[in-house]
Amino acid sequence: MLDATQTQDNLLEVNNIEVIYNHVILVLKGVSLSVPKGRITALLGGNGAGKTTTLKAISNLLASERGEVTKGSILYRGERVADLNPAALVKKGVIQVMEGRHCFEHLTVEENLLTGAYTRSDSAAVKRDLEMVYEYFPRLRERRRSQAGYTSGGEQQMVAMGRALMSRPETILLDEPSMGLAPQLVEQIFEIVKAVNEGEGVTFLLAEQNTNVALRFAHYGYILENGRVVMDGDAAELRENPDVKEFYLGMSDEGRKSFRDVRSYRRRKRWLA
Ligand SMILES: Nc1ncnc2c1ncn2[C@@H]1O[C@H](COP(=O)(O)OP(=O)(O)OP(=O)(O)O)[C@@H](O)[C@H]1O
Ligand SMILES: [Mg+2]
Repeated sequence: MLDATQTQDNLLEVNNIEVIYNHVILVLKGVSLSVPKGRITALLGGNGAGKTTTLKAISNLLASERGEVTKGSILYRGERVADLNPAALVKKGVIQVMEGRHCFEHLTVEENLLTGAYTRSDSAAVKRDLEMVYEYFPRLRERRRSQAGYTSGGEQQMVAMGRALMSRPETILLDEPSMGLAPQLVEQIFEIVKAVNEGEGVTFLLAEQNTNVALRFAHYGYILENGRVVMDGDAAELRENPDVKEFYLGMSDEGRKSFRDVRSYRRRKRWLA
């Protein structure tokens, strides 16, 4: 059990959720996690582990994919959010940046950013926030008049993140920001996540396959495999954990090793049980 102070610090709590697609395919098998205010929490794991499904369960985007949460609960500031559509969730301060960056290709970079503020009527504040986004993403200022569809993958990732920031969120659910980007750009994107976290106090739940970079920037991490959390801990601890290291090595070799195959983890788990 969490004590009262811990609960208060957690903006988001996912309690033992199960998700089923198409009424039959059980994809999340009891996932629990907590996202403390002002922190960067990483949700790690390989292809198909259930990261995107977890984020979509939180932001209520599963219905369009014939998915549903069949067990457990999701609380934001202690309130159930299961019945809120994504727009209502944005009003509560939670916004998701989808995997694969979705920009409005025919709009300019700046027009894309402004769509993120469509619910807001305070135009002076919107203008200030646009300036704030350009401070974090100088590249977007340079490209402000370019058609978004013609910008690079990295720039589109920045547009997607910048647009999310324009809604002045308290929490950003960020899905796989490193996807398809060169290492140097990945580094740059994560530097910006850190700067936004520190500068604006925005809380992040970050889904990433790139465990290595995510654990350098996140405060805490959860490792998902096959729809279950197999390990969690402070990012610094996870980085030094021999099992996690072995898992990476396995990932870089041909034929990724399953985290469950790492024996000492199982042993440790038995001790803890
Ligand atoms: N709409 C869907 N219908 C049926 N099964 C789905 C659907 N979406 C995802 N799945 C399955 O759910 C599992 C988890 O997928 P999910 O996209 O959540 O994984 P992920 O961790 O985000 O992976 P990746 O790193 O590749 O993005 C996978 O086995 C996937 O095939
Ligand atoms: Mg995914």
